[in-house]
Amino acid sequence: MKRLASIGLAAMLGAAAVVAPALAEGEGEKVFKKFCFVCHATEPGKTKLGPSLHGIVGRKAGTVPGFKYSDANVNSGVIWDAAKLETYLADPKAFMPGTKMVFVGVKRAEERKDLVAYLASLR
Ligand code: HEC
Repeated sequence: MKRLASIGLAAMLGAAAVVAPALAEGEGEKVFKKFCFVCHATEPGKTKLGPSLHGIVGRKAGTVPGFKYSDANVNSGVIWDAAKLETYLADPKAFMPGTKMVFVGVKRAEERKDLVAYLASLR
């Protein structure tokens, strides 16, 4: 009986390991819907209050055509990578003084990590 139970547990752990990466991405999408979706689209070229975040990882700040950025954003010289996005999203105005993105920040490090993984998948 004991042996059976441990086989069952091992099978469950195996399944969890396979499912985990997909779940992490799902979590990031949830964080996006909670905090960002009102102002940002994920499709290329679609502007809401903020620019589309399609392909944001690896992109130079302030370069979505047709979007009216603040000078702070355009002149920042930032190339968005995962580390910069995590710092920016913790406290946008601290990272980029003068940005017109009115957002207090995602305070939980785990949520930021999941969110940035999701942003990296938008390509
Ligand atoms: C209230 C609306 C609003 C919310 C909420 C918001 N943003 Fe923004 N975001 C903006 C605006 C407006 C800009 C343009 C900022 C500027 O020009 O200074 C921007 C800019 C950005 C940029 C820089 C884009 C570029 O092309 O340089 C990133 C990255 C970004 N937002 C990510 C996010 C993420 C991720 C979230 C959710 C955690 C979020 N934003 C929440 C309005 C918002």
